[in-house]
Amino acid sequence: MAQLSVENLFVKYGSVTAVRDISFMVEDGEFVSLLGPSGCGKSTTLRCIAGLEASSAGTIRIGGEIVAADGLEVPPEKRGINMVFQSYAVWPHMSVFENVAYGLRTRGEDAEQIKAKVGEALQTVGLEGYAGRFGTELSGGQQQRVALARAIVTSPRLLLFDEPLSNLDAGLRERMRFELVELQRRLGKTSLYVTHDQSEAMLMSDRIILMKDGQLMQSGTPRDLYDRPASRFAAEFIGNANILEGEIASGPGGDRSLARLAGGVLVEGRFSWPDQVRSSGPVLVCIRAESIAQVAQGETGKNIFDAQIRSVNFLGAVVNCLMQVGEVQLRADLPARNPPAAGATIRIRIDPDAVTMISER
Ligand SMILES: Nc1ncnc2c1ncn2[C@@H]1O[C@H](COP(=O)(O)OP(=O)(O)O)[C@@H](O)[C@H]1O
Ligand SMILES: [Mg+2]
Repeated sequence: MAQLSVENLFVKYGSVTAVRDISFMVEDGEFVSLLGPSGCGKSTTLRCIAGLEASSAGTIRIGGEIVAADGLEVPPEKRGINMVFQSYAVWPHMSVFENVAYGLRTRGEDAEQIKAKVGEALQTVGLEGYAGRFGTELSGGQQQRVALARAIVTSPRLLLFDEPLSNLDAGLRERMRFELVELQRRLGKTSLYVTHDQSEAMLMSDRIILMKDGQLMQSGTPRDLYDRPASRFAAEFIGNANILEGEIASGPGGDRSLARLAGGVLVEGRFSWPDQVRSSGPVLVCIRAESIAQVAQGETGKNIFDAQIRSVNFLGAVVNCLMQVGEVQLRADLPARNPPAAGATIRIRIDPDAVTMISER
């Protein structure tokens, strides 16, 4: 078992509290991301788990065993973890083989065993045939694979990643996301992955832990966070959404509520979370750009409006349109095939199931 548990973790640097009462679990074999803007405390949390940083309070357990608590700090090399960083930290003057073998050598494993394990790790990351190359003879992507091989070769209980793909160029970064997650599934290693990139976290993770200012804002599957943001921050940080301030006009009726937006525009949706449901007062209405569709001119019904197109931006698969519904401005992704023209008035429908209401301003 290599479950990770973090309980009430605090990290203070003088007067700065970098991590404020963070608690979460990563189950055996799970891939979890810490996601949040730069400076929110992701790396600090990860470094505490690795034992590279001392916590001010809290308890960290790996495989049920306490590795950090009041007055106790198990040294990094005794935690059964390995970490992959943004900087590849591949030793340029050593061969790929020696780079990967290093951890095994310091453990004093015998030569035969080292050869077999390094060979297997290099094969796992797609670097068979590269054992004799030097660090300086590798591309950025290959160096990151070496770092990965080095992390898995010692069979750690837990893999920690701190923005490992951020230094790669866009195309390679995208490919490596798929490769890395495929590798993790294959190895079944419990993994905690730090990123500020929401699309990376969405694509790779079983679960996402969303952080802001050292605090945990929301955790759940990528789908949970996308479909049911619990705060303005979550709604803004994940995906493209129109976030509009309104008042509850009526509801709840069933699980639907009606909100009045600027200029009296009435839109139906549902609260993200049952404990947030209100029957009056201010509300945030979150409308995803892709939940707006063009419908026939004569169409009537709930959440159907006339919209005047202000601008049309071609994005490839879709066009992003800025449109005006009364006093409300919306951004919508519409199919790029027959896009509306700027200046035109079209009929739109906003899928009420995709309109989430948040009782926070
Ligand atoms: N060694 C340190 N001394 C003082 N402040 C630090 C130190 N390390 C990090 N911080 C501060 O702690 C906060 C969280 O940093 P960090 O965990 O690196 O954020 P992230 O990885 O999410 O970008 C930031 O405000 C940062 O400036
Ligand atoms: Mg960081």
